[in-house]
Amino acid sequence: MISRRYSLVAIVLHWAIAIAILGQIALGLYMTRLTDQQINLKFTLFQFHKSVGITILVLTLARLVWRLLHRPPPPPVGQPAWERRAAQASHIAFYGFMIGLPLTGWIIVSTSPLDIPTVLFGVIPLPDLPGLNTLSNAAGISARFAEIHAVAAYILLATVVLHVAAALKHHTIDRDEVLWRMLPLPLLRQRIRKEMK
Ligand code: HEM
Repeated sequence: MISRRYSLVAIVLHWAIAIAILGQIALGLYMTRLTDQQINLKFTLFQFHKSVGITILVLTLARLVWRLLHRPPPPPVGQPAWERRAAQASHIAFYGFMIGLPLTGWIIVSTSPLDIPTVLFGVIPLPDLPGLNTLSNAAGISARFAEIHAVAAYILLATVVLHVAAALKHHTIDRDEVLWRMLPLPLLRQRIRKEMK
């Protein structure tokens, strides 16, 4: 039987990645605007940003595998075809960003002329992506990927805003179960359920 709700694993991964992405964007914007007088803080925050970014990549790959092995609940009954297609497109875009953004970050550090080692959470050394640091124009590639990384983060943020707006529309206008079935806490779910009645 197909469940009407997401599995606990899917719900935990969804909210863990969502919180990490929002924190990661805020952190990225903050740390890149620090001055060279704040070099110690800058170094610590860059290391933390890289650690959380790689964690997002790992969690996203786990989520993708889980998603391929476990069928999600069906779309709400009567949902227009355009809305279903838009939802599918946004989910594909999310996976693209959640994998692409960490990879572009990894390319930035692998080609950076500063050559600062990355140690995830101060424990696990992250190697450079193979073959990149020996390229003759590595510094140019690093700068170009820093731009791509920033633009992709802004587009991801816009996609998150649309995604939240769509979830709220489902809850307040369509009054269907789309938001309810992704909520983590049983109490919160009960309250939202009552509101829908
Ligand atoms: C979903 C994951 C990630 C998000 C949402 C994210 C977001 C951001 C944002 C918003 C910025 C500031 C851009 C700007 O305004 O200049 C930034 C900068 C940066 N990020 Fe990430 N990031 C992610 C993953 C990573 C990873 C995995 C790495 C490295 C392993 C990384 C390395 C960097 C570096 C080095 C910068 C500074 C680039 C520069 O010098 O301008 N990021 N990131």
